[in-house]
Amino acid sequence: MRHVLSAPQFDKPELLEIMNQAADMENILTTKGFSTMAEGKILATFFYEPSTRTRLSFETAMNRLGGKVISVSDGQSSSAKKGETVEDTMQVISGYADVIAMRSSEVGFAERATKTSLVPIINGGDGPGEHPTQSLLDLYTIQKQFGLEKPLRIAFVGDLKYGRTVHSLQNLLRNFDNFSIDWVAPKELDIQDKYFNAGTDRKFTELTDEVLAEADIVYMTRIQQERFDDVAEYERLKDVFILDAAKVAKMKKEAIILHPLPRVDEIATDVDPLPQAKYFEQARNGVPVRMTLIARALEII
Ligand code: NCD
Repeated sequence: MRHVLSAPQFDKPELLEIMNQAADMENILTTKGFSTMAEGKILATFFYEPSTRTRLSFETAMNRLGGKVISVSDGQSSSAKKGETVEDTMQVISGYADVIAMRSSEVGFAERATKTSLVPIINGGDGPGEHPTQSLLDLYTIQKQFGLEKPLRIAFVGDLKYGRTVHSLQNLLRNFDNFSIDWVAPKELDIQDKYFNAGTDRKFTELTDEVLAEADIVYMTRIQQERFDDVAEYERLKDVFILDAAKVAKMKKEAIILHPLPRVDEIATDVDPLPQAKYFEQARNGVPVRMTLIARALEII
């Protein structure tokens, strides 16, 4: 079954294929606006953790493909609250739907779901683990802007410890030889060793002028409040890096700023009108990319 569980499952040829298919889906969206290729199929979205973009763009994607959607947007309103295991829940839901997109606060949860599910599982975020579908839309956004061949320096900024989107995206980028990675985080939220490539990566504890001036992509992240046990520590770290228009002025004109969203304070709103700001466009790219992932899971492309 074509599950989407974590970024390492993709190799370069498959990534390039997904990028091409997403461009085809975007073409459908900008011409006719919809397709009937998933007619008669059902997507179930099951989110135990809060979500706006991921769930709604999955549901939009299925609607645009001509399929139908059933949804649990709050795990607390499901039988999980009564103590049902993930394995049982997924076995049951997979009897109702042809593909399942899901999110939970537990690392490895989507993988567990595959043990009993009768249909493909798509991981929409497993706690501080991974967020492979976000990383695919991030890659698509980067590819649309720069292609995937020329040398590019990306700075990941903010909560690198708990920010699951960077864990997945760095992995996708390792498939291409042209990316250099700067990791910018306070030491408490440093990138884990398993993601750090000592040969090529650089680490910073400040968002320095050097980082800003050299980056082609500045990838900002939210400090992940919900992962902190200590509220005081979150309060101390939450505004550690703020990208504002004055800082963007240090960046290259043709560089771009990405953020998986939601933002809290880490990107000031005075950045929004600047040409480097691509995060809302990035969020829109979730639709063609998720159309692609659903269609692949259903084996209709
Ligand atoms: C991200 C997530 O859920 O990990 N949001 C998203 O899916 N676009 C980022 C975040 O919550 O900070």
